[in-house]
Amino acid sequence: KFRSADMVSAWSEELVERLAADIHEAAEAAVRKGGVFHLALSGGSSPLALFHRLALHHFSFPWRDTHVWMVDERCVPPTELESNFNSLHDHLLQHVRIPYYNIHPMPVQLNQRLCVEEDAGALLYEKEVRNLVNGSSFHFVLLGVGYDGHTASLFPGSKISELGDSLVALTESPIKPHQRMSLTFSAINQARTVALLVMGKGKHELITQLSRVKDNPDKWPVTGVDPADGKLVWYIDYDALLG
Ligand code: 6PG
Repeated sequence: KFRSADMVSAWSEELVERLAADIHEAAEAAVRKGGVFHLALSGGSSPLALFHRLALHHFSFPWRDTHVWMVDERCVPPTELESNFNSLHDHLLQHVRIPYYNIHPMPVQLNQRLCVEEDAGALLYEKEVRNLVNGSSFHFVLLGVGYDGHTASLFPGSKISELGDSLVALTESPIKPHQRMSLTFSAINQARTVALLVMGKGKHELITQLSRVKDNPDKWPVTGVDPADGKLVWYIDYDALLG
């Protein structure tokens, strides 16, 4: 899968510009066709440069018709630096004219409590996705990949294959903050386009490893990314590709 998927590679700045342009094009096509664009974004450090780029597309991007969703969230208050929503807001949302009701943070904090009410938050988010996203099929999902092969907040040993048809789940991360909420592969693999962004020399060994391993989502979660009717594109910068 890793070898057969589409791949775009360039130096990081050019790669990020290319990805921003591809998201912009997908947004325009979706809005032309159905009046709305559903975009799900990951946390982590790699997408930050992309968020800045997208913010520069401020005037021409159809923000008014775009819904922004989260791929995953850490179970911390939204004011914390570790909150994915916090960084999404700081680096992108506050710079563009997107209606507040088009923004869909994951409800990790309910009644002042963090991810403790069974799966109430995850169920709420799942309902929101099912209600608003046609066929629960996001137009564009942006993912990253961690050194241990995790993607979204689906970590090795998270019993990913047991999550069934749920679109959203609470998961455990080996790194802090341990509690997470995440889209599952049932949600991710229904997307029209999934982009996997990998940047930096530090990811070179991972890329080399991934090109050799067999698909095994319990051990290497990222190998579970396999959009059923959509396409998967890897965006890998030269630092990650060549080391
Ligand atoms: C998160 C992410 C996670 C991330 C990878 C890569 O909330 O941590 O969504 O899946 O994409 O860990 O992170 P970097 O971009 O920081 O390497």
